[in-house]
Parts: sequence; C-alpha cells; structure tokens
Amino acid sequence: MIALLLTLSAADYATQIAPLLHAKCAGCHRPGEVAPFPLLTYTDAKSHAAEIAKVVERNIMPPWKAVEGDFAGSRALTAKEKELIVDWAKAGAPRGNPAKEPAPPVFKTGWQLGEPDIVLEMPVAFEVPAGGNDLYQCFVIPVAVAGYVKAWEFQPGARDTVHHSLFFTDGSRTARKRAADTGTYSCFGVPGFLPSGSLGGWSPGFAPFQSPAGTASRIQPGHDLVMQIHYHPSGKPEKDRSRIGLYLTKDPPPKRIVDIALVSKAIDIAPGDAAYKVTDYFTIPIDVDVVGLIPHAHYICKRMIGWATLPNGKKRTLIRIDDWDFNWQEQYYYRQPMRLPAGTKVEMEFIYDNSAANPRNPSNPPKRVEWGPDATDEMAGLHIQAIPVRMEELPELGRALWGKIMRALGGFIPTTR
Ligand code: HEC
Repeated sequence: MIALLLTLSAADYATQIAPLLHAKCAGCHRPGEVAPFPLLTYTDAKSHAAEIAKVVERNIMPPWKAVEGDFAGSRALTAKEKELIVDWAKAGAPRGNPAKEPAPPVFKTGWQLGEPDIVLEMPVAFEVPAGGNDLYQCFVIPVAVAGYVKAWEFQPGARDTVHHSLFFTDGSRTARKRAADTGTYSCFGVPGFLPSGSLGGWSPGFAPFQSPAGTASRIQPGHDLVMQIHYHPSGKPEKDRSRIGLYLTKDPPPKRIVDIALVSKAIDIAPGDAAYKVTDYFTIPIDVDVVGLIPHAHYICKRMIGWATLPNGKKRTLIRIDDWDFNWQEQYYYRQPMRLPAGTKVEMEFIYDNSAANPRNPSNPPKRVEWGPDATDEMAGLHIQAIPVRMEELPELGRALWGKIMRALGGFIPTTR
C-alpha cells in the first residue's frame, strides 16, 4: 500500500527536480545568460511550471536536437528525467522539504583552461537593439601569430544576447574587404567567403573546445579570424564585444581532421511541398575515425539523418534530428570516436517542409525555395569530421573526395584502362 502511494505521488522539487534543473537548465537560465528567466530557486521553477511542462514534453527545452548519437556535452534529458519534470509540473509543482533543497550551482568565471596564449577580440563593440529580428554578424580580426590551435575558449561579451557563434579563418582577404573600415558586416548562414579553415562553433553551455588528440588547426599571420555571431535581441539594448582565447602549439600536429562533406545543391522545393527530400553519399576508401558532425540547413529543414553502411552490410546511425531548428544548430562531437573501415558508405537524407503549416517557414505564403545563402533559401550539408587511421593514406581520401566534387559538378574523370 505504501509502495503504491509512493509510485503515485509526483517527485518533489527539493530532492528530485532542483538537482535536474540545476544540472540541465541553470547553465542558460540564470541572470545575465541567454535564457529569458532564471531557474535557480523553487520560486523560479514554480512560477514557470506550466511552461516547463510544455517545452520539456515537446522536446523544445533543453535545446539539444540530436536524438541519436552519443555526443559529448549533450544537454538532452533521459526519458525518465523528462517524465519526472513533466509529472512534477502537472502535479502542481510540489516543493517537498525546503531544508533539503540544494544551493543553486556556482559557475566558474574567467578562462577555464588557464590564461590563453593569445586573445582575439571583436575590433569594435557591436550594438544589438532591444527587439526585432535576430541578427547574423561577421567580425574580422587580424591574426598576427603563427601556430596551431589545440584548444579555444569563447567568452561572449553580452551573454544574454549572444545565441551562438562560429569561427572561421580567411586567407583570401575577402572578409576583410567586406568589413572595410568597420571590422564587421552582416552575414546570414554562410560567412560570405570560402574559409581557409574552421575552428568550430560555440553555443551557450559549451565547454572550452579541445581538438581531438593529435589534431590542431593552423593559424597564420596575415590571415583573419572571422567570428560569425548570431544575436537574439534580449529586450534591452546591448553592446557586445566578444572574444576568443586560443591555446597554441608550435609543432605541426601529427594528425588531421578531414571534412567529408555530404552536400547537395540540388534543391528546388515547390511551395506547399511538405516532404521534399535531399540526399548525398560517399564511399570512404580508407579506415577513418569519425570524431564529430556538423549538420547545416536553414529554416525549413525538418529531419536530418546521417548513417553509415559498413562493408559487412551493418548500418550505424551517425546522427538523427527529427525537429531541426536553425536557431539551435550545434557542432556535435562524439564521446568516443567512431571507427569506420575502408569501403564504408556514408549517406545523408534531409527532409524539408515548405508548407504554410510549418511555423518556421520564413515565407508566408510559401514560395519556391532553391539552394542559396539567404534566410529564404536552403542548404543541405552534413560535414563528417574524420581522422585517417593511417595518415599516409590521406592522399587516397583526398583523391576520392575530389572525385566526389567532380561528380557533383557533372565533370568527368578520365579513367585509365
Ligand atoms: C543552452 C541554453 C539553454 C538551456 C540548457 C535551457 N534553456 Fe530554456 N531557454 C533558452 C533560451 C535562449 C530561451 C528563449 C527562447 C529561445 O531562444 O528558444 C529559453 C526558453 C525557455 C522557456 C520559455 C519557452 C518559451 O516558449 O518562451 C522555458 C519554459 C524553458 N526555456 C525551460 C527550460 C528548462 C526546463 C530547461 C532544462 C530542462 C532549459 N530551459 C534549458 C536557453 C536554454
């Protein structure tokens, strides 16, 4: 009888819900952070209980879009944790014994990996208005040192408006020309030049980035670091001057991450089409360790799935996203690298919803959507970050990737008989 009562009664805040909200929500839901209200105390949680139940049930919060794939830093709740929170909120948010409530977590400030070798800061403070549309802005920062970045840490200036940020290097001086005297230009989706390299990306709650063992990204004098920042207006005018601290090594790294880009420009979606499919594939000719994945599309993409078919016919899911949200794009790194043997075929399938029923459709009524860089265009890319198991086989992978590019361009590759 007692056991029955216990299973029927909802969790209480003091012993079960507070630790969960502190671990999974407070990183963003605290004063000065990107989320609109804190979730640190019982009063905070109780006053938002109904909304909490709604967003947790619908997988909107915590923001983490990958539903398959064992990724580092995952913010996802387990099915059990979700149920606990939703049931608690629906039961009227019982408090339990206040004496048992844990103290709100204390978050570290300052550089978590110690003093960086160099700090690159936005050349000017950028003014973000109180309201209106989200802004996408590129900032160009000249690099004066040579070396290899083995780790970096991003420090947003105005934390409550910086939604996410991507970091590229540009050796072509295109970004610098676009930015001219101001050091910045508006850029949605793609940074507006062909990057010579990428350092990855940051979103709230992201730990400092440490490049997978044996790898590092090259930076060199005369190149620029381009910070592409997505601002979400916070309700009050903000001034942001974000910076990134780089941890360098002088020695060239023994290993290299290769971007196996599954991409397609074959996108032409009729208005009203609610399930338009875009695919691409590649057969990896050498053994690789997949360390991470960077999916990319704009607003009307709904589902993304990436998978690998091993030479023995076994299938492995690389990533699955059922409810893609451009505003919560992440760079996903596996907890443990995934070894794929030579001859593995990797594939992607992206589904787009260009109907009026899609609340994220930027065009109302829907219009024809083709490949392109703007918010009302679409893209399809699954960037597989892979390290050759034997570096001496890198040229073979390079040749196969080149063949893939030629295939996409419709070019022919002369074969020798
Ligand atoms: C990575 C940062 C982050 C984490 C972690 C996070 N939130 Fe949020 N939350 C946000 C942001 C930002 C918003 C504002 C809406 C938006 O931008 O999507 C938000 C909005 C909300 C809202 C209001 C929803 C609405 O429709 O306006 C609720 C409720 C909420 N979060 C609950 C939670 C709960 C519960 C957790 C933990 C289980 C959580 N959040 C974890 C960033 C976060």
